[in-house]
Amino acid sequence: MWSLKKEKGVPVYVSIIELILSYIKNGDLLPGEHLPSERKLATYFQVNRSTVVHALDELVSLGWIIRKQGSGTFVNEGKWGISTTPRTDWRLYLEQNAFAKVDPFTEQIERLIKQSDTNVLDLYTGELPMDLIPSFSFPPLTWKHFLEEEQQNDLGYLPLRQSISRQTEKDYGFSLPSESLLITSGAQQALFLILQVLLQSGDSVAIEDPSFLYALPIFQAAGIRLYGVKMDQEGINLEALEKMIRQHRVKMVMVNPSFQNPTGKTMSMERRQALVKLCQNYQVPILEDDVFANLNFVPSDQILPLKKLDPENVLYIGSLSKILGSTTKIGWLSAPTSVNQQLAEARKMMDFSLSIFPQLLANLALTDKEFSSKITHLKQTVEQRGKSVFDVLDKMVEWDVTMPKGGFYIWATWKQGKLRPKDWTIFLQEGLLIAPSFFFSENQDSIRINFTRVDENNLLILKEKLRAVTQKIAMDS
Ligand SMILES: Cc1ncc(COP(=O)(O)O)c(C=O)c1O
Repeated sequence: MWSLKKEKGVPVYVSIIELILSYIKNGDLLPGEHLPSERKLATYFQVNRSTVVHALDELVSLGWIIRKQGSGTFVNEGKWGISTTPRTDWRLYLEQNAFAKVDPFTEQIERLIKQSDTNVLDLYTGELPMDLIPSFSFPPLTWKHFLEEEQQNDLGYLPLRQSISRQTEKDYGFSLPSESLLITSGAQQALFLILQVLLQSGDSVAIEDPSFLYALPIFQAAGIRLYGVKMDQEGINLEALEKMIRQHRVKMVMVNPSFQNPTGKTMSMERRQALVKLCQNYQVPILEDDVFANLNFVPSDQILPLKKLDPENVLYIGSLSKILGSTTKIGWLSAPTSVNQQLAEARKMMDFSLSIFPQLLANLALTDKEFSSKITHLKQTVEQRGKSVFDVLDKMVEWDVTMPKGGFYIWATWKQGKLRPKDWTIFLQEGLLIAPSFFFSENQDSIRINFTRVDENNLLILKEKLRAVTQKIAMDS
């Protein structure tokens, strides 16, 4: 950007003024934006620093830029209004962009993951490791085959909806009729459609505290107010929820009752029944996020989906991401037919309709005769890994842990209370990547570990890293 064309007969400082003015007028430099230092500009333009100073002095006197003592030179924000043509202040728009705000801790974790340093153990990523994802072989398919199948309904590919329906009936003994199912591009698209169609900017939604939803920018972007409700051993606390519903006119309650992300907790049967009753009384719908449903370590009849307890008032989300990898981008939403039709219609209007390709392939995987045995094997391995990680943590007196009944995550709480910023950086220094509790709530005292990523080979590494981190934090407190 900072290259200067020196024209014959035009003083260099004038060319600099014209260049900077053109940047301001084109919006390449935004109001309030910091200009490079005089020394840097002199280097970029290959001129004396005094020439740059001369040009900047002129721009200051014209009011286009301002100097702030000790902090440098900035484009004058006040100048915006006196521009000859009205302009959009893009900076204001960009500042509102909820998607651009990446937490510095996330940034550092993601940088470490990208470096693929062998000294780093990634228990942060919310995915199965590649070696655990079951593999399926597909029959030879032709392009025509896909085209013929393409006559799909707005709700999604019918054979896939039927397979999901059959699978849920078989595994959990409850029915999600295929006409109630909307296939989505992952569970996140189901959430997104609900935000777009059933909620409005300014609406209040109650979620568990901590919750993975707290970390999603789509709520902030849609102007939804999230209210966290504390959890106890049995799940979301109902007294606090009732207070919240009354106080903030809550429009929807969103929970992840089985093997919750991030705490790994499973809501008790009694709590499930009481939650459903409470929401019926206040006529507040529940959104049940059940993406870990297939990864239960206890018999499925011990875990009653809320959807089974109250099919009318519960919207239910499932996904293949946690068993077949999130790049498959296959999720589903079960809602009353009228609601589903509206969501499908809205999706079509936004031109977010689904491609036939992943749907057809997902259906082939679900109907593979080895699907059930492969998932059973996956579950066993995941449970074994969970137990090994739990044993490591359980032996450390500094951490409080509970073995989850399924899913991916173990939540370990530092018994002495809040961890300070310098404690969190110890995890990064030791190359032990975990998700800190402040991603999911205001809490500063716990870590989320994705234990599925800990195989026999790196269990020892985890032990060593965890011991080193724990000792360093304890020594310093
Ligand atoms: C509880 C929960 N719900 C929904 C999702 C999103 O799932 P998908 O990858 O299908 O969009 C995740 C993914 O991390 C999750 O943990």
